[in-house]
Amino acid sequence: MTEATLTGRVAIVTGGQGGIGRAIVARLLRDGARVAVFDLSGNEQASRDSVLRINCDVTVQANVETALASVREALGPVQILVNNAGLLGPVARVIEITTETWRRVTDVNLTGTFVCCKAVASDMVQAGYGRIINIASVQGKEGMELAGAYAASKAGVIALTKTLGKELATSGVLVNCITPTAVDGGMIDEIEDQRRAYILDRIPMKRFCSVDEVAAMVAWLASDECSFSTGGVFDLSGGRSSY
Ligand SMILES: NC(=O)c1ccc[n+]([C@@H]2O[C@H](COP(=O)([O-])OP(=O)(O)OC[C@H]3O[C@@H](n4cnc5c(N)ncnc54)[C@H](O)[C@@H]3O)[C@@H](O)[C@H]2O)c1
Repeated sequence: MTEATLTGRVAIVTGGQGGIGRAIVARLLRDGARVAVFDLSGNEQASRDSVLRINCDVTVQANVETALASVREALGPVQILVNNAGLLGPVARVIEITTETWRRVTDVNLTGTFVCCKAVASDMVQAGYGRIINIASVQGKEGMELAGAYAASKAGVIALTKTLGKELATSGVLVNCITPTAVDGGMIDEIEDQRRAYILDRIPMKRFCSVDEVAAMVAWLASDECSFSTGGVFDLSGGRSSY
């Protein structure tokens, strides 16, 4: 991938203040895009770089619509949406978590992705061009003990991606998702050592994914080089996933 492949593009990255989100933002900027971040922690870094940082809870439709209006005004129409905001939730068995926890995790990971897709996709369809990249997880394919709400929400993101990809297939808007295994530098840092070791042991390459490896795949899916893939689920699992 050469640099500046995204020149002239406007991108939104949700959860862009987190570990993976920061790497995606840096990569899209490097490739020439202008980038807006929707995150809970808002405008605190507004003056430190060229990124438009908007305080936005992706689960709240009115928040997302207002944030999108600000992006349109400041940067112009949006061609790239990266749905990356996410919440791991507690490490606990399904029968032990509260319904409130279940709702919060699925609300951020799945409903937040839906809300952002819904807000952004119609403009893209009208323009006849767009790239939507949803950050799912290998756990959405396989399930994962002690992470039931998270795994179920990511399975939902995969199904949403496949569905929206089919619905928009002739519109010029491509919708794909990626399914990383554990990534160093993000929410995996919240996990205690024993569980980290267990997850590491299941990865044939015997290392975690890096944030830059996630960002590189996102950059390709956001570019014109990606032209015949939609509704796709892209593996980043160091050999763990067999489908
Ligand atoms: N780190 C991993 O091992 C891993 C593996 C596979 C997939 N993922 C996925 O990658 C994405 C990024 O994860 P990360 O590891 O960088 O986590 P992180 O916790 O470092 O970052 C998540 C970001 O999302 C933001 N966020 C949470 N709720 C939000 C809301 N309601 N509205 C707006 N922003 C919100 C947080 O403020 C944070 O900046 C997530 O979707 C996660 O599920 C992570």
